[in-house]
Amino acid sequence: KNIVVLISGSGSNLQAIIDASESNYPGKVVGVISNIEGAYGLTRAENAGIANQTLSHKSFDSREDYDAALIETIDAYKPDVVVLAGFMRILTAGFVQHYQGRLLNIHPSLLPKYQGLNTHQRALDAGDKEHGVSVHFVTEELDGGPVVLQAKVPVFDGDEAQDLAARVHQQEHRIYPLVVKWFCEERLKMIGEQAQLDGQVLP
Ligand code: GRF
Repeated sequence: KNIVVLISGSGSNLQAIIDASESNYPGKVVGVISNIEGAYGLTRAENAGIANQTLSHKSFDSREDYDAALIETIDAYKPDVVVLAGFMRILTAGFVQHYQGRLLNIHPSLLPKYQGLNTHQRALDAGDKEHGVSVHFVTEELDGGPVVLQAKVPVFDGDEAQDLAARVHQQEHRIYPLVVKWFCEERLKMIGEQAQLDGQVLP
């Protein structure tokens, strides 16, 4: 299966998927697209010999125009699945509909908690004793699509946002390649507004 990954930054989740895909994996990262020029994830793709490019939102007048160009860029890679890995843009309804059922995102909170930004600080401010990360199918509701898999981490006294972020990142790198693998094996599907693994409703 062809995997296209969208990034805006460091791309450590991209790296985890590339690493996993190097042995006994049902998919291949065929393209990496960043909206930010110079994002380190592009270097990771380059180092792995994967086609990569920047499509900057700055050269477009509207979100619709950008997303239309993004669709064209992605579809040139003939993707079976499109993986958002730290892609820091809100997508239009048209974009989401185009990839409905084959668009995945990772969000650093235990959804439905803390949709949006600054999730680690918000978990600390709320005094949460546990925090975590969710992989979900993308629907038109921001960070609101059906959850596929979550991983929890403990929150320790004295933790700062960056400590939590690091702890969560370790789990991200474990669960995202796994979910993408399930999808590529055709075991994971979005049916209506439900995520199903081997025909069983998740989570
Ligand atoms: C991760 O924390 C992910 O959950 C969020 O963006 C961050 C991306 O990190 N959506 P990286 O670029 O994969 O290192």
